[in-house]
Amino acid sequence: MSSNVKKTLMVALGVCLVASVLVSTAAVELKPIQTKNKKLDMLKNILSAGDLLKEKSNIEDIYKENIEPEIIDLKTGEVIPKDKYDEVVNTNDFDVKSVASSDKWGEAIPADKDIAGIKRMPKVMIVYQVLDKDKNVVKYIFPIYGKGLWSTMYGFISLAKDLSTVEGFTFYDQGETPGLGGEVDNPRWKKLWIGKEVFDPSGKLKIQVIKRKVDPSAPDAKYKVDGLSGATLTTNGVNHLVRFWMSDEGFGLFLKKLRGEKNEKV
Ligand SMILES: Cc1cc2nc3c(=O)[nH]c(=O)nc-3n(C[C@H](O)[C@H](O)[C@H](O)COP(=O)(O)O)c2cc1C
Repeated sequence: MSSNVKKTLMVALGVCLVASVLVSTAAVELKPIQTKNKKLDMLKNILSAGDLLKEKSNIEDIYKENIEPEIIDLKTGEVIPKDKYDEVVNTNDFDVKSVASSDKWGEAIPADKDIAGIKRMPKVMIVYQVLDKDKNVVKYIFPIYGKGLWSTMYGFISLAKDLSTVEGFTFYDQGETPGLGGEVDNPRWKKLWIGKEVFDPSGKLKIQVIKRKVDPSAPDAKYKVDGLSGATLTTNGVNHLVRFWMSDEGFGLFLKKLRGEKNEKV
């Protein structure tokens, strides 16, 4: 090998080494920042669902001042005591994907009950209670998720203290087609949810996302939300996931407990 070729190879090798050290250092150094930003983004979405986002305010401060999270057992509706928390289930960084896939905290859903198309779900879920100045709960924010056409859509629904009136609705992670199913993220559409009723006065699950526009003069208009045009499959997905999480398979028993109703499932 001529000395010129050797030199060229040495330089190329040197450049490769320096570049790989730089890339791996950057990856390691940036990891904590990415984790922090991911957490902040999640808090921002929770606050947005609870209509608590204020401009120029620190997200973590608003969260700390206004939100009291609890973890609940979906089978009983009972609050899980803090001494049962572990690295997967805790109120600090509750991640529905990790909890659902955990052997201890997640479970498979029988196909006939899996209307949200998620296959597995957490046995316990986090509920974000929104407090007023006197620390009274004024609304609740629930994580919800389910299959759209192309993706699993993750979001939040917020209910007023009456446990039926929708106060906020948002998706923070979805991969539907922009302009079609991706319109689930359109603020105009999300706003249509506000003021809708999830349950009738007897506690029956009524909320429904319909294929077309809701006739505002129809007597049941308050239980119905407009579907997304050109995106019936995503629309059906949203309808199913909201109904799943508001049913007894999801937060239903917790809601019944709060309403003081008899818990029929246990
Ligand atoms: C490239 C492409 C992307 C699409 N993305 C979506 C989507 O994200 N959500 C959805 O429901 N339908 C999507 N569709 C349309 C569906 O295939 C289907 O036609 C539609 O859901 C029917 O809705 P409609 O009855 O309101 O027209 C897409 C179609 C194409 C060709």
